[in-house]
Amino acid sequence: MNEGLIATSAAALKAMADNGTLKVPPVLDAPQGPLSRVRGQDVLVACSNDYLGLAADPRVIAATVDGLQRYGAGTASVRFICGTFTPHLELEADLADLVGAEAALTFVSCWDANAAAITTLADANTVVLSDALNHASIIDAVRGSRAGRKVVYPHVDLTVLDEALSGLGEWNRRIVVTDGVFSMEGDVAPLPDLIELCRRHNAILLVDDSHGIGVMGAEGRGTPSAQGVLGDIDVLTGTLGKALGGAAGGYVAAPAEVVELLSQVARPSLFSNALPVPTACGAREAVRILRAEPQRVARLQQLASDLRGGLREAGLSPLPGDTAIVPIIVGETARAGQMSRELREQHRVLVTGFGHPVVPEGTARLRLQANAAMSEANVAQLISALEAVDATASTGSVRR
Ligand SMILES: Cc1ncc(COP(=O)(O)O)c(C=O)c1O
Repeated sequence: MNEGLIATSAAALKAMADNGTLKVPPVLDAPQGPLSRVRGQDVLVACSNDYLGLAADPRVIAATVDGLQRYGAGTASVRFICGTFTPHLELEADLADLVGAEAALTFVSCWDANAAAITTLADANTVVLSDALNHASIIDAVRGSRAGRKVVYPHVDLTVLDEALSGLGEWNRRIVVTDGVFSMEGDVAPLPDLIELCRRHNAILLVDDSHGIGVMGAEGRGTPSAQGVLGDIDVLTGTLGKALGGAAGGYVAAPAEVVELLSQVARPSLFSNALPVPTACGAREAVRILRAEPQRVARLQQLASDLRGGLREAGLSPLPGDTAIVPIIVGETARAGQMSRELREQHRVLVTGFGHPVVPEGTARLRLQANAAMSEANVAQLISALEAVDATASTGSVRR
């Protein structure tokens, strides 16, 4: 063994332990859902992406098991060799229809979907302009692309973006990339304005709607639908690992020619196995349930709104918004960690604390996420647990 490797790894871990950033994941031994179990202890989960409560839905499980029995466990191939199965095509047609696109292509994750879309579409003659608070998968995809110029614009600052685009006359291609719903703030990109800006500057708009799909809009068709621009985004990406069953997988939805190009040349498509077929079958069932039961989306939106309102009534200050992500800024990283631990140990409530370097120093937060399968009593329990830990936290209250 390389002793230097072991020593530097140990030192990095010790530094994280010393500065309070070492993550200790809770280990679940029951299905994901508002009520789960961590090492034998019942917990209320308020930090999962299972927005519609479909991760443990018996119909999603049955569809996954059926896919397993019909098609086996693995694809054992990339798509173009012999890894494309009928359920992939069916799921892709359903996803395209859901988000109002001509076609869609699936990947094993949205991380890969973003990498595929951005690295394929951005060449040396391309400028990519990316929101400062975009997800890490976008940041890494832009970094890994051959784009000739990479610009990060301040979060949802369309004035700066407009100025940046105005000064780009000589560039062949311009791509503006944004999250639909921002994962750490729970706010949304102003898509109609971005579309107008992109059209004026002949730029391509790429939106990652991982936290919007299944959540935003009356039918859960995502942030574009919520903002009245369904079908108007050039390239949409999203995950199957959150509202759409919570298993895994991602997609790019776009005009048919763009999707075909990605399937021909995108490296995650050419050099990585296809989405497992049972997972595709489970996700397809989740999409079917979403379309058949829009009341789940209404319930999710109502619970998120109740949660925000209840927290405000309790004197706590969630960030404003209308998504299912409800962050409470608590300041220092150590404080977020302490509150998260107390919630878990004293109140059996699972809420993750996010600190530096995930979010800027001094803006550490607890990120609550609503789930359509929560009861009103679960929301009340969550609010009173937060009230209690805020009152007892040794580093001072976050009340207004
Ligand atoms: C905005 C956004 N994009 C992409 C991803 C990655 O999705 P996946 O887990 O499917 O790779 C996430 C997951 O956290 C996300 O929040």
